[in-house]
Amino acid sequence: MKKITTISVLALMAGIILVSCDNKRQPGKIYMPDMAYSRAYETYAERDSNVFTANPALRGSSKIFYNNTPVAGTIKRGELFPYTLTDDSVGYAKSASVPNPIASMTDAEMSEAGRLFNINCAICHGEKAQGNGPISTSGKIGGIANLTLDNYVKMADGTMFHSITYGKNLMGSYASQLDRKQRWMIVKYIRTLQPKAAAAVPATDNTQKATK
Ligand code: HEC
Repeated sequence: MKKITTISVLALMAGIILVSCDNKRQPGKIYMPDMAYSRAYETYAERDSNVFTANPALRGSSKIFYNNTPVAGTIKRGELFPYTLTDDSVGYAKSASVPNPIASMTDAEMSEAGRLFNINCAICHGEKAQGNGPISTSGKIGGIANLTLDNYVKMADGTMFHSITYGKNLMGSYASQLDRKQRWMIVKYIRTLQPKAAAAVPATDNTQKATK
């Protein structure tokens, strides 16, 4: 009789152990759901669609709303205010009136801007912005702008920023690779590669001397 009890107790324990190891991914009974299902984003973690929803319309329902994106209007620390002109001809036309928010740059900032230009832009535009980078000379993409030409010298900083932000024809957008400050910095750097604007430098005026 004693033997039978011992055997059945052992069998029961073995059974419980086996059953409890069934699925390690299942937390079993949850009495603190916020701890069992973290609200924080866990890299590569699969979110349980019975618990989470990415649909803003279901916010406040029994499900936890979470869609990985920052709250609307969030500005990264140190980042400039959002650029609001739209990616169309109206936005392009208006962009010329947007001033470059960066008044001046230190030598270190200028060399950082140059580094970013060489990484992102020189492949097409060339290190001297003359439109003769490796992709241009290979003939794979035609019509790459020579940014040292007069029309680009005269082009407003805002227009350049607009085109870098949204892309233009064969040139893609750089909004996801470069933040707003970096894009404005690159515009400033392009200016250092351009010859001084023929229009901006007033032709030496000799008339005054002559009449005097
Ligand atoms: C894939 C090649 C390519 C790369 C890379 C590239 N561009 Fe361009 N870029 C072009 C082409 C092509 C044009 C001419 C677009 C047009 O006017 O049709 C252009 C035009 C421009 C213009 C003139 C825009 C205008 O409104 O007319 C600027 C300024 C410019 N690029 C800056 C940059 C900067 C800054 C970078 C790096 C962040 C860059 N580009 C990277 C191909 C490229």
